[in-house]
Amino acid sequence: MAARLIDGNALAQQIRSEVAARVSALRARGVHPALAVLLVGENPASQVYVRHKVADCEGVGMRSILDRLPETLDEAALLARIAELNADPLVHGILVQLPLPAHIDTDKVIAALSPAKDVDGFHVQNAGALMVGQRGFRPCTPYGCMRMLQSAGIDPRGRHAVVVGRSNIVGKPMAMMLLQAHATVTICHSATPDLAAFTRQADILVAAVGRRNTITAEMVKPGAAVIDVGMNRNEAGKLCGDVDFERVRDVAGWITPVPGGVGPMTRAMLLVNTLEAAESGLAKAEATPG
Ligand code: GUN
Repeated sequence: MAARLIDGNALAQQIRSEVAARVSALRARGVHPALAVLLVGENPASQVYVRHKVADCEGVGMRSILDRLPETLDEAALLARIAELNADPLVHGILVQLPLPAHIDTDKVIAALSPAKDVDGFHVQNAGALMVGQRGFRPCTPYGCMRMLQSAGIDPRGRHAVVVGRSNIVGKPMAMMLLQAHATVTICHSATPDLAAFTRQADILVAAVGRRNTITAEMVKPGAAVIDVGMNRNEAGKLCGDVDFERVRDVAGWITPVPGGVGPMTRAMLLVNTLEAAESGLAKAEATPG
């Protein structure tokens, strides 16, 4: 029997509707949630992502501030711009699109973000909060994956979750979120020998590798939930994930498509984080007398 699809487009649409309603409520109280997006250089994929993020803000009634900065921008100028946005009470979220040009130190730039405005969840304070189970912004892609599991009624508690990939943006935070949801978690990566021996044990399999057809049908346990974070192109230029979708769907219990799976959820969770940044700013303002 073919796997059930977890429809990222439909779930993202539902989340955007909820966000739009909360944005209206905030605007009625005089707060207009705003996201600043910094794009340095001309990376074509980054330009597409940034365009989507700005359009998503408009779609839910949020304000966006897009800074298109030249490839040659020096690090000090970028840090100065971040300091300005950190101090601006009308800006609730700041996102620096990655990758940055090689002459800019990405760690230093992320460290310069106010953790309270770091809606990507990349700052060490937010990463640390996730690690120890405290409140903080969750990186949007793994956060979206968790919402997809939840929407399908899949409770990670007691399940074996296998995450393939160990990036700071996806693999590591994904593993932490699954652990927090009481899964037994294995993290595999490029130096894992016999990847299939691990993936075949997965009740929940998250592929975040960046290479198409990495996960084949033989590597999947019958009935497993397969979450495909990959964003690759095949020879024909068509968008595809890390999972051999057509074959794996005959084995898995649930599967996320590419496109229309994790991608739209990442974008939706950015809106959720930005909204929550604005809401918590208001809560703090109301708690401060005078
Ligand atoms: N580049 C690729 N993915 C991301 C992301 O989630 N956030 C940012 N800021 N840059 C990215």
